[in-house]
Amino acid sequence: MSFPAPAARATAPSAAEATGMPAEARPLLEVRDLHLHYRSAGRTVRAVDGVSFTLDRRGEAIGVVGESGSGKTSLATALMRLLPKSVARFDGQILLDGLDLTALSDEQYRRQVRWRRIAMVFQGAMNVLNPVLKVGTQIAEPLLLDGEGKLDKAAARAKVGSLLERVGLPRDIAGRYPHELSGGQKQRVVIATALVQDPDLLILDEPTSALDVSIQAQIMNLLKDLKEDPGISMLFITHDIGLASDLCDTIAVAYAGEHVEFGPAERVLLEPQHPYTRLLLRSLPRLHATERPRPMPGEPPDLTAPPSGCRFHPRCPSCFAPCPTEHPSAFVLPDGGHSRCWLLDADKVAASRASGAAPGGDAG
Ligand SMILES: Nc1ncnc2c1ncn2[C@@H]1O[C@H](COP(=O)(O)OP(=O)(O)OP(=O)(O)O)[C@@H](O)[C@H]1O
Ligand code: SF4
Ligand SMILES: [Mg+2]
Repeated sequence: MSFPAPAARATAPSAAEATGMPAEARPLLEVRDLHLHYRSAGRTVRAVDGVSFTLDRRGEAIGVVGESGSGKTSLATALMRLLPKSVARFDGQILLDGLDLTALSDEQYRRQVRWRRIAMVFQGAMNVLNPVLKVGTQIAEPLLLDGEGKLDKAAARAKVGSLLERVGLPRDIAGRYPHELSGGQKQRVVIATALVQDPDLLILDEPTSALDVSIQAQIMNLLKDLKEDPGISMLFITHDIGLASDLCDTIAVAYAGEHVEFGPAERVLLEPQHPYTRLLLRSLPRLHATERPRPMPGEPPDLTAPPSGCRFHPRCPSCFAPCPTEHPSAFVLPDGGHSRCWLLDADKVAASRASGAAPGGDAG
């Protein structure tokens, strides 16, 4: 399913055509009011529901964190335009380096964007490497296909060798089968596979969740290196806000299909503005903390019938008068981030205090 957009254009609009903005001033990725809903058993699942964010520059990493079912993978699926048949709604705007991706047909997207400009390491990808193909063959496959950028076998072999080195593997691993590799090696191969067409943006969906802690640290170090050189931009999806803060410059906190908080990683960690972010941080075990981690209260909502008003209100210790009925706007913060919480509306808080129903509880 494609966007309900002028999909019949013969050629993609150029970046300059799309925005007229000088290249150096353009953000790499702008996502505006993106929706991806599915149909499931006659109901609508609002997996991505009005998500907006900007990835400003090359080499920047955005972490998307949130509980299971909050819509993280669905966001990645939407950016890759790899949509299942069950899609009920798919709209919004996605600009990549000024190029309006929503103006592209599915065919243009496949030829010009997917894997070439936006690539992805899927959740659990290292377990789905083809067991009967040598890893070098799997990495090289897109380089040998007819079309723009096709290489001869020798050039493809050289490219695979240098990529393997770039991800910290010896070149001769190209001649091995997946079952001959450790989990960490397989994950490096998967990352090399995603990088083979030199994408601008790499989406990584829980890339370390199946690895033990020491291998996880090695993969995180590799991602930090790749961010520096060659300066790959990343969308790093994880349920672990601690892991995201280790790699990412910016953090988006996903809850029930929305991004309830967005901003510089340091500020989100040290001065979270949304009660859900505060509870997420409080649920983390810390090495030298005096306080024990506290589990997140309640259960994630059913996305076929998300709560009215603020979607977090049934679990929020700070819930007050407007929360159960009024959907909070994304309040812009001084650092350019945002938080979707009525506590940032001074008038609502004052009105509530005046009526004797001040925001309650402690999510701090
Ligand atoms: N193809 C699909 N058809 C119908 N519903 C789907 C489909 N894919 C995902 N969903 C639903 O969309 C919601 C968001 O799912 P998604 O996989 O994006 O969450 P997630 O944040 O990635 O979760 P996790 O952390 O468990 O990977 C869930 O309710 C899920 O059941
Ligand atoms: S205070 Fe209200 S708006 Fe803010 S997170 Fe809690 S329930 Fe939502
Ligand atoms: Mg997922």
